[in-house]
Amino acid sequence: MSGVIAVIGGGLMGHGIAQVFAHAGHRVHICDPSPDVLGSVHERIRLNLADLGLDVGAADRVICHASLAATVADAAYVFEAGPENLTLKQQIFADIEAHAPRTAILASNTSVIPITQIMSRLGVGERALGTHWWNPPYLVPLVEVIRTPHTSDASVSAMTALLTGAGKTPVTVNKDVPGFVGNRLQHALWREAIALVENGVCDARTVDTVVKASFGRRLAVLGPLENADLVGTDLTLAIHETVLSDLDRRPGPSPFLRALVSAGKLGMKSGEGFQRWTPEQQAALRRQVLAHLKSLQDQGL
Ligand SMILES: NC(=O)c1ccc[n+]([C@@H]2O[C@H](COP(=O)([O-])OP(=O)(O)OC[C@H]3O[C@@H](n4cnc5c(N)ncnc54)[C@H](O)[C@@H]3O)[C@@H](O)[C@H]2O)c1
Repeated sequence: MSGVIAVIGGGLMGHGIAQVFAHAGHRVHICDPSPDVLGSVHERIRLNLADLGLDVGAADRVICHASLAATVADAAYVFEAGPENLTLKQQIFADIEAHAPRTAILASNTSVIPITQIMSRLGVGERALGTHWWNPPYLVPLVEVIRTPHTSDASVSAMTALLTGAGKTPVTVNKDVPGFVGNRLQHALWREAIALVENGVCDARTVDTVVKASFGRRLAVLGPLENADLVGTDLTLAIHETVLSDLDRRPGPSPFLRALVSAGKLGMKSGEGFQRWTPEQQAALRRQVLAHLKSLQDQGL
């Protein structure tokens, strides 16, 4: 195994990333400033492993630290999974750079912030890149490996090999654009979904039913560009000639979305967002998502 893996932040993503590498046989060091979060890392990993029918003993390969310096001291790879805040991530990477070996490859798990901005104050540009994992990291295969103008080919190759060896599906993103590939695609869809409701075309439940009962069924095995080739680029062009000019293309977030947030309708955590959610409905949907992801994994998809 190739050196210690360090994970900064033990929240939703951090503990899952640690789990993936521990399950693959690596020694993992992890830190989090919250004693509650840090204290529950082992238990959360054990529960996930047991739920997947895997060896819970893998959790013993994860060592928890209160200090970042101790976490990264022997690291070959560092994965940052702290809060989605540019200034905080810049501070965390300054700390990582000060304490990690000069050979370590440094990765941020930011959802949408350009990696170049996070790493702009570092002197380690060639060893810095993005690794965008998806939740939960142990069930969703993709990791987007994002290169900045400074990232070396060797760093991208080493990270790709590490992720492949741990059972992930890494892809290389060649330009450090906000949202990378996955979140640009996902939020292009969400923008139109919100606009459809805002414009009274249909209600929120209908939007979700349309996606889940139609093209959502095919997406795990048929990507959008494969689909365009399947129906023909000529038909795709004809559709775009008619529909594209009618799609929402306002540059900022929808006023409808802003109004929901201002009204405290924050989604499941407040009991209402685009629709109302009882605790039972929330739990049922979460169970359904996990069961679906596990069944895809069992099918090798
Ligand atoms: N949740 C998702 O679905 C998802 C998916 C992909 C990427 N991401 C990204 O991953 C990152 C982490 O997201 P999350 O969902 O795990 O958030 P989270 O809130 O569950 O975890 C963040 C953790 O960082 C800790 N933290 C706070 N300050 C810190 C510091 N200075 N040093 C180290 N840790 C610190 C917090 O205590 C918390 O436990 C974010 O950048 C997020 O955008 C999230």
